[in-house]
Amino acid sequence: MFNIILFGPPGSGKGTQSQKLIEKYQLKHLSTGDLLRSEIAAKTPLGLEAKAIMDKGELVPDEVVIGMISTALENNMEARGFLFDGFPRTTAQSEALDKLLQLKHTEINVVFSLDVSEEELIKRILHRGLTSGRSDDMNEQIIKARIIEYHKKTSAVAAYYQQFNKVVQIKGGGTVEEIFSILCKEIDNHLS
Ligand code: AP5
Repeated sequence: MFNIILFGPPGSGKGTQSQKLIEKYQLKHLSTGDLLRSEIAAKTPLGLEAKAIMDKGELVPDEVVIGMISTALENNMEARGFLFDGFPRTTAQSEALDKLLQLKHTEINVVFSLDVSEEELIKRILHRGLTSGRSDDMNEQIIKARIIEYHKKTSAVAAYYQQFNKVVQIKGGGTVEEIFSILCKEIDNHLS
């Protein structure tokens, strides 16, 4: 199995690059943001609780997202590998993921950290908000709250994987194709 984490602040291109990478490398895409939005669309109790938190730009409790990822791993063990997008987002989530993967006799191979300026992040998300229907995309205050939450809780995830030398920094300010090409070169190096 080959397992990747795509890591970076809101709007850094995790979802965009994930779509291209899963197609090229035949990986299973696991996005906690997408899983939570499915719960919201289905109006489940979990979805209703999550929506209130997401609309404030805050993080959903660790146990909720860890439970969702655990189930998704269990249901997809035939996959060639996993691409984690938007997970893990805290040190507790990182430790839980490592344990879950160990139980499956696999591990994270590489963490790509996408680095994009805050000005560009806000511009991208506001632009997407014109059509995405995501309530957390439409208001600059909420977008800024998401970025603050990232610096407060999520940037620690890079430090966690740094201790195992698994983090590769990627300049994420270029075009979608430029960044995709850099990611592919890095993955091909890891695979060879
Ligand atoms: P989530 O859905 O994970 O959103 P996010 O991390 O805030 O990231 P985005 O989807 O906004 O951005 P992205 O990096 O994927 O960029 P994208 O490719 O879309 O999380 C939403 C919420 O759910 C969280 O706030 C939290 O409440 C909750 N949540 C989720 N996971 C959680 C967890 N593990 N724990 C706790 N809570 C959790 O690109 C953005 C835009 O830019 C697009 O329009 C795209 O077309 C454009 N774009 C992309 N790349 C480029 C480029 N190179 N040049 C120009 N434009 C570009």
